[in-house]
Amino acid sequence: MMKTHAPIIPHFDALLHGGDYNPDQWQHRPDIIQEDYRLQKLAGCNAFSVGIFAWTSYEPADGQYEFDWLDRTLDGLAAQGSRVFLATPSGGKPAWMSRKYPEIRRVAENGLRDTHKRRHNHCQSSPVYREKIAAINERLAERYAHHRALGGWHISNEYSGSCYCDGCLGAFRRWLEERYGSLDQLNRAWWTEFWSHRFTDFAEIDPRDESIDCLALDWKRFTTWITCDFMQHEIAAVRQHSDLPVTTNLMGYFDGLDYYRLAELCDFISDDNYPEWNGPDKAHIIQSVAMTHDQHRSMKQKPFVLIESTPSNTNWQSCMHHKRPGIHRLQMLQAIGHGADGAMYFQWRKGQGGFEKFHGAVVDHEGSENSRVFREVAEVGASLKQIAAARGGHVDAPAAIIYDWDARWGFELSAGPISGPKKQYVATCQAFHRPLWAGSVPVDVIESTACFDGYRLIIAPQLFMLKPGVADAMKRFVKAGGTLLMTTLSGIVNENNSCFLGGWPGDGLRELFGVWVEETDEFNDHHPVSMTFAAGNRLGLTGDFAMNANIDCVHAESAEVLATFKDGFYAGQPSFTVKESGKGRAYYLAGRCGEDALTAIVESICREAGVASCIPEKLPPGVVAQLRENESGRFYFLQNTTEQAQELQLAHAYVDLIAGDATGSVVQMPPMGSLVLKAKSD
Ligand code: GLA
Ligand code: ZN
Repeated sequence: MMKTHAPIIPHFDALLHGGDYNPDQWQHRPDIIQEDYRLQKLAGCNAFSVGIFAWTSYEPADGQYEFDWLDRTLDGLAAQGSRVFLATPSGGKPAWMSRKYPEIRRVAENGLRDTHKRRHNHCQSSPVYREKIAAINERLAERYAHHRALGGWHISNEYSGSCYCDGCLGAFRRWLEERYGSLDQLNRAWWTEFWSHRFTDFAEIDPRDESIDCLALDWKRFTTWITCDFMQHEIAAVRQHSDLPVTTNLMGYFDGLDYYRLAELCDFISDDNYPEWNGPDKAHIIQSVAMTHDQHRSMKQKPFVLIESTPSNTNWQSCMHHKRPGIHRLQMLQAIGHGADGAMYFQWRKGQGGFEKFHGAVVDHEGSENSRVFREVAEVGASLKQIAAARGGHVDAPAAIIYDWDARWGFELSAGPISGPKKQYVATCQAFHRPLWAGSVPVDVIESTACFDGYRLIIAPQLFMLKPGVADAMKRFVKAGGTLLMTTLSGIVNENNSCFLGGWPGDGLRELFGVWVEETDEFNDHHPVSMTFAAGNRLGLTGDFAMNANIDCVHAESAEVLATFKDGFYAGQPSFTVKESGKGRAYYLAGRCGEDALTAIVESICREAGVASCIPEKLPPGVVAQLRENESGRFYFLQNTTEQAQELQLAHAYVDLIAGDATGSVVQMPPMGSLVLKAKSD
């Protein structure tokens, strides 16, 4: 039996439920704050992020601090047994600070300094801003380190963006100097003879020049680095007095930062997740959320927290669509199923004014517990208590998908080898995740430099860039018995975004896969291309499938051909190949294909690799399961992702933890229903 992971908040053995709580906005209404405590109990809430945008309340004037309101808040929350992630306030700076120290405001790409507005827009290299944030963070830590409500630190909020002030540009050039050692090496790595770009001084380098795509790539890497540096600076101030866990809220597949690097600074991962539920294909939405959770669990191979989600709607998406009945419950239990030990909201209560006054919240302007949304939240609160034994459960994934920010950036910043809109890096990773998810196969989402040990199957969709060591790790993985599936648009550049010479896939993968990709062709609907499986192929696949977006013209040099293209000047050439190596095998899929083909391919490869569903029962299509295991047992989380009722046939004995009794051999799931079953044999 698996061991139980330690709780997110030390010694607080509960699934976290709560959200962003802004009593700083309600200090003139003590009656409402009292009412909050009553409602929080009713909603089964036990954890709150406090003070995220409270800098003006913490420090109303330069060097003048006011903590009485926060003392009262933490005391009030502690009195009802709740815990607090206390936020450092760097996400929103006070107006007095912007006015007194203009240099804390960012300089935009056009060279103009921002006015004081909005949030998430401080200059990360500004010495004054760093001094101010260290001062407030240290005071907060000193005052509350041993407060019984304190559970951890919410560092800043949704770090993002860059600044083009002289300080930041100077920091970029110093970072480059350290990365490359000399201008000569930089010029070589960046291929700067191109368009007469050879630099003779680091001062000539400007990140706004996208013609040298490695320069643009390095600016993204630098942005990650300076964000991490700023975050470390914030954490160091907190660490003067407190060693409780720190986190910063991530935003899924946000393009602006390499979250794997931020993850290294976090004690636990937390994520903000706002699926757009108005889409027609609910299963697709649920699956894309599932993959995000899989990534957050995989980042530290331990439980994470869904720290922000909306209990109803958002006020910034294309459609202010309310979650339909059942969806909220499904979304929260799904997060726990994928490895979260907490499901929390933005926001506890709607403010009366400001940009987010119409954003969904647990408590509406009406103010009581009588709303539909409040009732649904309270039901989730009650359910989380009923399934509390699943806390700390591990997810043991036999398969992994590689999602890599560097590879994505290198791909997206290169003009080619297919056109920008067709690149679809995230969507392609999601497309490979989908059949695994639909088959209830636990899957990790990892970066290309992660450890491959322990997986039976690794899928590398469009892994454009091979960083040093990745190709070798793939070879070792396959030789030791692993199954590797790699696709078109992989193995094309090195970490400097420079193309490999000598044929793709590069860095030795031509030999591992036994293929040489000579050309990549992009096409549209006027030039449909399909592939057909070879008779008697080892996977037993049959039929023709449409390709979309692009294909590779491949020479099977030492690979076995499993399928070929039917159209174009490449008709008859390989579209899907395999090569055995040591105890394993390396599959190459030479084009992007639709869900039908991917499902057939991934399912058959899983069968061959011994990668199976986490639940022994065969589930009806559209019903998926996740498994978490800990010292107290095996917990299955099931979601019916269809709009029809579904009937489950259970061959084994389970207890329905939320209904509180043993299930029969037939269980009905309503449309969008969810269940948490504990295996009875435990
Ligand atoms: C983000 C922020 C929150 C809030 C929500 C609204 O996730 O972190 O402060 O603005 O969006 O959806
Ligand atoms: Zn700056």
